[in-house]
Amino acid sequence: MLDEKRRKALEGGGEERIKKQHEKGKLTARERLEKLLDEGSFVEIGMFAKSRATEFGMDKKRYPGDGVVTGYGTINGRLVFVYAQDFTVLGGSLGEMHAEKICRIMDLAMENGAPVIGLNDSGGARIQEGVDSLKGYGEIFFRNTIASGVIPQIAVIMGPCAGGAVYSPAIMDFTIMVDRSSYMFITGPQVIKAVTGEDINFEGLGGAMVHNEKSGNAHLIARNEDEAIEFIKLLLSYIPSNNMEDPPVINTGDPPDRMDYSLDKIIPEDPKKSYDVKDVISKVVDRGTFFELQPYFAPNIVIGFARLNGKSVGIVANQPRVLAGVLDINASDKAARFVRFCDAFNIPIITFMDVPGYLPGVAQEHGGIIRHGAKLLYAYSEATVPKITVIMRKAYGGSYIAMGSKHLRADMVYAWPTAEIAVMGPEGAVNIVFRREIKEAEDPEKKRLELIKEYRDKFANPYVAAARLYIDDVIYPHETRPKIIQALEMLQNKREDRPMKKHGNMPV
Ligand code: HXC
Repeated sequence: MLDEKRRKALEGGGEERIKKQHEKGKLTARERLEKLLDEGSFVEIGMFAKSRATEFGMDKKRYPGDGVVTGYGTINGRLVFVYAQDFTVLGGSLGEMHAEKICRIMDLAMENGAPVIGLNDSGGARIQEGVDSLKGYGEIFFRNTIASGVIPQIAVIMGPCAGGAVYSPAIMDFTIMVDRSSYMFITGPQVIKAVTGEDINFEGLGGAMVHNEKSGNAHLIARNEDEAIEFIKLLLSYIPSNNMEDPPVINTGDPPDRMDYSLDKIIPEDPKKSYDVKDVISKVVDRGTFFELQPYFAPNIVIGFARLNGKSVGIVANQPRVLAGVLDINASDKAARFVRFCDAFNIPIITFMDVPGYLPGVAQEHGGIIRHGAKLLYAYSEATVPKITVIMRKAYGGSYIAMGSKHLRADMVYAWPTAEIAVMGPEGAVNIVFRREIKEAEDPEKKRLELIKEYRDKFANPYVAAARLYIDDVIYPHETRPKIIQALEMLQNKREDRPMKKHGNMPV
């Protein structure tokens, strides 16, 4: 009897529907969990849960498990709690018991301080179960919020994710989408057509690339489900299981005192020329450990995890190659949320600064660059993990303050000899301050160039800021790796308090 019941539960929606799932290039919920977890480690909970709905013929559609497989297991030996929606059962739709199973997993994850991983593949709220489905989502969103900053939460979208259902991944820390087989939206193409007249398909509206490039809702795009699972494992390798732990340390074999002399030539002589900040990052961190997140969204700022002497760090870096590395609305949002994740989970933040300012423009101003940009100031100020900043070149105005400056309590600020810390760049500054002198000069262009040189010699260097202790040291670029590692060692027991409060009111 038990054997028979188990067999039935393992079948999900039946052979026919499993075949359909495979034909779409998708695995079933159980196949996905098998690939995700260490072999033989999965322990299922709630296999016999069943819907108790009776409306719309639901009394004849009772599937053991209710369309979601839940339980726990290990990934590289570390405990994780998992749920995988089973599209072969009622389209993976979320009814009362389905939601209760997910909630139970989240409660256990919180009580035991382990990450939650959700594999989403669902038609959304189970229409036949009405308000019980809505209650189910509400209960999940509440738990996502309470768990935020306590345990890491990773969402993987492996099929549809529609309506309010998208808000669970949105509250979680990282969202991975599978190219061409996953999509997320609040209202689908049909409703959009009816309301606004716009014609768009699933992929164009909310496909993986749309959310990785345009909306910023997703952090990674995987070529297929196997790659999505690899991304989960890689992410976990950099982060602790909960906010009371330190991230795992992995010996990378890269000597901490290694110096890379090619860094000395990386900044072009011409200040208008760019370089790829990812080259700087990969030369400084342990070899091959930089794992970039959101590479397609706001590429004018680069974020991701890496290791330094085996220890996890979060990297935030302006990218001079894109829009000269300016801060705009999306870059501020992207970096602020990442800084907050690192701070919540005891991951030191390393910032590489080369920033000419905020992006000028009506669209940015009307789009709220003031409140979006404020998030970055807020996130850096609030963060109490070790914060180390390297100023490589431009560090102008408000964007200098925002990018992990001493004034927002960076613990250690290094500057390369090429650093220029000033209220604005030489050309802009001279045009404003010496407008009359230039106009009245015999040869205005000659005068302008002279003044630019004078300004550059006076202000566009690291020594004025170093004299005021806004910079702790001026270093050669090749010294960057050992200097950061030394600072991290020094800061490993850092404690910094903030006033007790219920919570701040971060600009959102
Ligand atoms: C009940 C559902 C369902 C749902 C799908 N199914 N979605 N059953 N409630 N929400 C069932 C289908 O009836 C079908 O059952 C089976 O799942 C497979 O669905 P298909 O349509 O055959 O699959 P496919 O062609 O791949 O299309 C997938 C789909 C489509 C695009 C997801 O099913 C769809 O549009 N579903 C509705 C999506 C939606 O609008 N959901 C509500 C969102 S609002 P049979 O037995 O016929 O095979 C929401 C509110 C959340 O979620 C609020 C939170 C605050």
